[in-house]
Amino acid sequence: MSASNGAAAQTTEESLEARMADKTITLEVFRYDPAAGGDPTFQRYDVPYRSDWVVLDALNWIKDTTDGSLTFRWSCRMGVCGSCGMMVNGLPKLTCSTFLKDYYPDPLRIEPLANFPVQRDLVIEFDGFVEKLKSIKPWLIRNDQRDPADGELRQTPKQLAQYKQYTMCINCMLCYSACPEYAFIPGFIGPAAIALAQRYNLDSRDQGQAERRKLLGVQEAVWECTFVGECSAVCPKHVDPAAAIQQAKVTSTIDWYKRFLMPWGKK
Ligand code: SF4
Ligand code: FES
Repeated sequence: MSASNGAAAQTTEESLEARMADKTITLEVFRYDPAAGGDPTFQRYDVPYRSDWVVLDALNWIKDTTDGSLTFRWSCRMGVCGSCGMMVNGLPKLTCSTFLKDYYPDPLRIEPLANFPVQRDLVIEFDGFVEKLKSIKPWLIRNDQRDPADGELRQTPKQLAQYKQYTMCINCMLCYSACPEYAFIPGFIGPAAIALAQRYNLDSRDQGQAERRKLLGVQEAVWECTFVGECSAVCPKHVDPAAAIQQAKVTSTIDWYKRFLMPWGKK
């Protein structure tokens, strides 16, 4: 690009920014303070529109300039920590990766993640989610006692590829908000916990598949899933928890046949 073309592009960009500085976008934000009593409400805020702003930027602008009482979680601002999940116009999204330009000039409705109790405003309680993750024994289970002096448990790239996808989960809980089964049956262990179980079950170093398969083979685990597939559709990390659930259903079915039809082949 020539110097004059570069200068022209810069001027165009600057005038575009100047024009956009006058523009605003409306956020209708869910407000609820259990300590103060009363019902939840929606509060409207007009926020400056910037094409490079994400929803989280707009919420931070509100908090910094207009209403410091607005409460929400976030940390990394780069799609890694999993803490900024909210409903944006009815869909679960990471607000640090959801651009205002994809909605402008329409208003956005921001709510806490669906299917979880609300602590305050956009903050949900996730103790139950953490308990579900813990319940599937998310660690390497070994039959032998190994000592560091025994050396590493080595793995080929092919063995790593078997489960790597399931290690990408950031525990953002978007899949639980999207899941219609979880909405009706809160005891359902849910997509991320089952994907986490598969992360260990498919790891060549793990010997705890039999233990976990017993946990997964019950109604509140894989058999509660009716394969709607929304969990995978909303997952920002392409973990594909729906695939993990279907894999676990297959092994659970094989276990059932072994138990009832081939008792000599239980293992
Ligand atoms: S499976 Fe995907 S949507 Fe579900 S918690 Fe993990 S990263 Fe989030
Ligand atoms: S702020 Fe960490 S994922 Fe959005």
